[in-house]
Amino acid sequence: MTINRELFDQVMVPNYSPSAVIPVKGEGSRVWDQEGREYIDFAGGIAVNCLGHCHPALVAALKEQGEKIWHLSNVMTNEPALRLAKKLTDATFADKVYFANSGAEANEAALKLARRWALDKFGAEKSQIIAFNKGFHGRTFFTVTVGGQAAYSDGFGPKPGDVVHCDYNDLAAFEALISDKTCAVMMEPLQGEGGIVSPETEFAKGVRELCDKHNALLIFDEVQTGVGRTGELYAYQGLGVTPDILTTAKALGGGFPIGGMITTTEIAQHLKIGTHGSTYGGNPLACAVAEAAFDTVNTPEVLNGVKEKEALFRELLTAINDKYNVFSEIRGKGLLIGGVVTEQYAGKAKEFLTEGVKEGVMSLVAGANVVRFTPSLVISDADIREGMARFEKAVARVVENNA
Ligand SMILES: Cc1ncc(COP(=O)(O)O)c(C=O)c1O
Repeated sequence: MTINRELFDQVMVPNYSPSAVIPVKGEGSRVWDQEGREYIDFAGGIAVNCLGHCHPALVAALKEQGEKIWHLSNVMTNEPALRLAKKLTDATFADKVYFANSGAEANEAALKLARRWALDKFGAEKSQIIAFNKGFHGRTFFTVTVGGQAAYSDGFGPKPGDVVHCDYNDLAAFEALISDKTCAVMMEPLQGEGGIVSPETEFAKGVRELCDKHNALLIFDEVQTGVGRTGELYAYQGLGVTPDILTTAKALGGGFPIGGMITTTEIAQHLKIGTHGSTYGGNPLACAVAEAAFDTVNTPEVLNGVKEKEALFRELLTAINDKYNVFSEIRGKGLLIGGVVTEQYAGKAKEFLTEGVKEGVMSLVAGANVVRFTPSLVISDADIREGMARFEKAVARVVENNA
């Protein structure tokens, strides 16, 4: 059997358009494809591989747990899940954890919990969910409807109801929407897919205050920002605004699928026995790997390292930009960095990614106008420099192609 990119078109549902290369091996921030070509990974599996590829601590945890017990279902609990839940609650505002398998599932649980909480405490009238334009919360029908991009939720028939949106960072618009009928507000404490947009502190604080005023729950979707990505364990800790419910996934498993929703005891009690669940959520293999990832990331060395690496990334990107003038702004926090392309390259962010792959560097986009970098949190300075040297060549090619 020939395993190549053509086979994808033959046997896979056509909802993705993966790049031409097929990586087969990874180590740290380096990846090799079928032909043995090497890439520096600034994409990290879309902000997932927080410790790069095949980190020894994660490999050891996976092997160890793989020889103990793989799966039980939630008919029984398991040691890795309990240890991970204890560590998550010790390190955050939360007292309780619900495990899922992805970001979307964690958000689905958060939204369902919020609706239950509101129904139990205030009645059926309080069901409105407010979210933000350009937000992204996953692809289940509820989460994609709450996400603020109609292009992703249109075309599937009637949507879950009572979901409204306003612009991020527009406190006046938000204030006009929220009322005592609002059940919950879902927001990213830095919009990722929507273009790497940080919240203004006044906006985030204002949202919190208005949620309190109207008895609405504030849900922070930290699927992309969580587990060290912004240089804090969770972004809310740097923002100084504490949510009522927080969702985490991506980097939580360092590459092994897992998601989690964390909240307070008071709120959690509304998800009573039988109200929600998952066969795999809290699976011992996933939790064992996640525990190793969490232990490794949640240290001053790694978290402070993120801030230092951000500075190096920005310095090198700025130097490239001084030469080629392709970005109007370099923004983001920690190792969630976006370069906003100038007018001349409007709609062409993906060209930088495509040329990058040709030069041996993997990056991402966040929408049509932002080139995004979400590398490993422990990427070496040498790999950052080498990857940026390759990215510079890619930028030169994009400039040449568009001259
Ligand atoms: C903020 C945010 N929430 C939710 C999701 C969905 O996560 P998953 O793809 O694991 O379902 C993503 C994925 O990009 C995300 O960035």
